[in-house]
Amino acid sequence: MSDFAPRYLADYSESNFSISTVELDFKLDETKTRVTNRMKMTRKVATKDPLVLDGEHLTLLSVLIDDEILSSDDYQLSDNSLSLLVDKAEFTLEIITEINPLDNTALEGLFKSGDAYCTQCEAEGFRRISYYLDRPDIMATFSTKVIADKEKFPFLLSNGNKVAEGDLPSGQHFVQWHDPFPKPCYLFALVAGDFDILKDNFTTSSGRDVALEIFVDKGNFNKAHHAMASLKHSMKWDEETFGLEYDLDIYMIVAVDFFNMGAMENKGLNVFNSKFVLADETSATDVDYFNVEAVIAHEYFHNWTGNRVTCRDWFQLSLKEGLTVFRDQQFSADMHSAAVNRIQNVRVLRSLQFAEDAGPMAHPIRPEKVIEMNNFYTLTVYEKGAEVIRMIHTLLGADKFRAGIDLYFKRFDGMAVTCDDFISAMSDASGVDLTQFKHWYTQSGTPIINVNESFDIKTSEYTLTLAQSNGDNPALHIPIGIELITAKDEQNQSTLLQLTEKEQSWTFKGFSQKPVLALLTGFSAPVKAPFSQPDQDLQIIMTRATDEFCRWDAGQKLLTTYIMQLLHNPALVLPESLYSAFVEILNADISEAFKAEQLTLPSFSELADSIDEVDPIALLNAIENIQHQIASKLAPMLLKQYQQNIQADYANDGKAIGKRALKNICLSYLTRLNDHQNLVTQQYQSSNNMTDTLATLSCAAKSSHEKLNEMMVDFEGKWQDITLVMDKWFAIQASVNDESIFDNLSKLIAHPLFSLKNPNRARSLIGAFVNSNPRYFHCASGRGYQFLIDQLIKLNDINPQVASRLITPLIQFKSFDQDRQIMIKAKLEQLAKQEVLSKDLKEKLDAALA
Ligand code: TRP
Ligand code: ZN
Repeated sequence: MSDFAPRYLADYSESNFSISTVELDFKLDETKTRVTNRMKMTRKVATKDPLVLDGEHLTLLSVLIDDEILSSDDYQLSDNSLSLLVDKAEFTLEIITEINPLDNTALEGLFKSGDAYCTQCEAEGFRRISYYLDRPDIMATFSTKVIADKEKFPFLLSNGNKVAEGDLPSGQHFVQWHDPFPKPCYLFALVAGDFDILKDNFTTSSGRDVALEIFVDKGNFNKAHHAMASLKHSMKWDEETFGLEYDLDIYMIVAVDFFNMGAMENKGLNVFNSKFVLADETSATDVDYFNVEAVIAHEYFHNWTGNRVTCRDWFQLSLKEGLTVFRDQQFSADMHSAAVNRIQNVRVLRSLQFAEDAGPMAHPIRPEKVIEMNNFYTLTVYEKGAEVIRMIHTLLGADKFRAGIDLYFKRFDGMAVTCDDFISAMSDASGVDLTQFKHWYTQSGTPIINVNESFDIKTSEYTLTLAQSNGDNPALHIPIGIELITAKDEQNQSTLLQLTEKEQSWTFKGFSQKPVLALLTGFSAPVKAPFSQPDQDLQIIMTRATDEFCRWDAGQKLLTTYIMQLLHNPALVLPESLYSAFVEILNADISEAFKAEQLTLPSFSELADSIDEVDPIALLNAIENIQHQIASKLAPMLLKQYQQNIQADYANDGKAIGKRALKNICLSYLTRLNDHQNLVTQQYQSSNNMTDTLATLSCAAKSSHEKLNEMMVDFEGKWQDITLVMDKWFAIQASVNDESIFDNLSKLIAHPLFSLKNPNRARSLIGAFVNSNPRYFHCASGRGYQFLIDQLIKLNDINPQVASRLITPLIQFKSFDQDRQIMIKAKLEQLAKQEVLSKDLKEKLDAALA
C-alpha cells in the first residue's frame, strides 16, 4: 500500500550518500540478463541510517561491500528497495541482479523492441535495471560494458565514448563505453542490435569534430536523412542562438518501434520512437517531417538544458522540459514560419493544456505532490512550462534573456538544480525583479483576464482596465501585449503591458475615434480572455492588426461566436459578414500556410473547454453545421482555391507545404457537400505523397464516403509492411464517422497487425477513436466509453504509462453534460474496482472520483 503514498516537494532532503563512479556490466539475455553494478560510494553525514537503494522487478543474486559477499541477514529486501547498514565512510558496493527484458511490456528499464534491446530510464526506470539511488541529484560517472551475441547484436551502444571492444568465446563480443560527464541514472542508456547506420559529422564553432550516427532498422537507411539534416540544423542553431556547443566526440540516435513517449535525451545516445526519426516523401506527411525536426531538436537541446544542468528532484521537471520546449519552439519558428508555429502551439495549449488545468489532475508547472512521476510528463509541465519561459523572454527581451541563460550555465553547469535557481540567474543577469513572477510556478489553473474599455471622445483618451482572476491565488505578473488599431490613416499603437495587480488601468492618448483592441499579441501569456468584440471589430483585427497571431485569433473568435449560436439555434443562417471575412482571407496577400490556419475551425476540445457541461453531440452538430454552411456558400471559391493549389510535382519546402495545407483544408470543406465527393477519389488516385493521400482518407472517413472501404483496402495492400504507415491506417479506421464503428473496432482489435504491446499501435487505434471520433466516443449508449475502459483494463497490466495517457478524456468528465458525467463516473468506478491497479491509473482515478 505504501506504494501509493504521495511524495511531496516540501519533503525534499539530500541523500546521506553519494555515488562517484558506476561500473555496469551487462550480459544480455532475453529472459535472464545479468547486471553487475559496482558503485564507489561515500557516506556524507555521520548517521546510522541505513543505505536504502531503489529497485523493482529485480532478482537479486548477490551484494558485496568492498568485495566481501554479504549474507542475506546483512540486508533487507522489499518489492521496491534494498536496505543495508554500512559503517564505512567510503566503500565499493557491488550488486548483481538478473532481469527479464522479454517480459518487460511496460517499456521501462531494459526491454526488447523487436529484435533489439534498449533502455528507458526516465523518470524512475533505472531501478528496474539495478538497485540504485534512483533520483536525479545523485550524479555519477558511468562506465558500461555490454556483452552479447556478435552475430545477432553487432552494435552494442551506451553513453559517452567507446573505449574498448573485442571478441569473446562462443560467438559473444563486448563493447565498453565511458561517459566522462557525471550524470543522474535517468540519462543512462544501452542499446544492442543490428542496424543500418547513417553517418555524418559536424564541426563545432570551436573546431571540434563530432561524429553523428543514426541507427535505424535494416532497410530504413534512406528514411534517416531528414533526421540527420535536422540534427545538424539544431547543432548550428544552438551555437548561433545560445552559444552552446556539443561536448562529446560522438552523438548517436537510435530509432526503435516500441517506445512510450516521443524520444529520450540520454547523454550521447538518444533513443527515439521511430516515428520521430523515419521520414520519406512517400510514407511521411508534412506534419511528420515537421515533428521529426522538432523532436530531434528538442532532444539535442536537452544536452545543455537537462543534461549539463539537470533537475534536483522530479518536482523540478519543468526546469528542463519547459525550457527545452521553449527552445525547440524558437528553433522551429526560425526554421519555418514563426506565426504559423505560434498558432499551432496555441492550439495545443487551448485544446489540451487548458482542459488539463481545469480537470482533476490540474497541477502547477512545478507540482507539489506526486504519486506516479510518469503521470507528470504533462502538457502543463511541458507546454505551459514553455509559456512561462516565453513570458520571461518577453519581460526581459532577447538580449537579457540570453544573459540570463549564460549566467545559468556559468553558475550551475554540472549541477542538479531547481526552478528557483533558474529564476535567480534570470533576474540577477537582467536586473528584472521576478519575485512576483514566481507565482506561475505554484498556481494551477488558467488565469482569466477580464477586459473593460472606455473612450472619452472629448479628451480622445482610451482607457483599458484589465482584471485577473485565478481563484483566491495572489496576483500573477502577466505580460500582456496589445495593439490598438485606429482609423485607417493612423498608425496602430503596440505596447507591452505588465499586469501585476488584480486590477489595473492604462490610458492611451491621441485617437480620433475609439481604437479597436487586439489583445494578447503573440499570445503573450497562457490565459483566457473572454472578451466579446463586435463582428466588425474582429474583422478590423483580422485585416489590419500587424500582429499575425491576433489576426488569426480574431478569426477564430468570429467562428467560435457562430458555433456557439448554432449550438442553441441550429436553424441559424450565418450572416454575410462571416462569408465576406472568409473571402477576404482567401484573397489576401498572405502565405497559403497562414490562410490554411485561418480556415481551420477551433477544435472540438478547444470549443468544449469554453462551454460548461457541454453536450458533445450538440457541439459536434454545431461544428458540422458551420462547416456545411461555409462549404455550401463558398463552394465555387473553395473549389478554385483547391484547384489553384494542386502541384504537379512533389516538393517539401515551406511554400509547397503551405499549398498542400490550403488545398486539403478546402477539400475538407468541399467534402461536406454531396456533389464534391469525386475530389476525394481523384486526389487519392493521383497523389504522389502521404500528406495528400491521408487527407483524402480522413475526409472520406468523416463523410462516410462510398469509396472509403475500397481506398482503405487498397492502402492496406500497399503499406501493410510499413509499421508507421499502418499506424495511420489504424487511426483512420478508428475515426470513421459511422454506426458500423463498434463492429469495426472489434475487428481491428483482432487484426493480425494490431497489438496493445506496441504503444504507437495502441494509440493509433484507441487514441484516434477517443480523440478523433468524438461522435461515437461520446455516443449516448455509452459504448464508446465502454470500449475505452475495456482496453484500459488490458493496458493496465501491459503498459500502465500508455493506459494512463489514454484515460485523459474520461477523468475530465466534469466538462460534459450531466448524463455523460453519470455514465463516465460509473465506468471509472468499474475500472477502479480492478483487483490490481497500476499506480499510474490509480492516482488519476482517485483524483477524478474524489
Ligand atoms: N525527457 C523526455 C523528453 O522530453 C521524455 C520522456 C521520454 C519520458 N521517454 C519517457 C518521460 C518515458 C517519461 C517516461 O524528451
Ligand atoms: Zn524533453
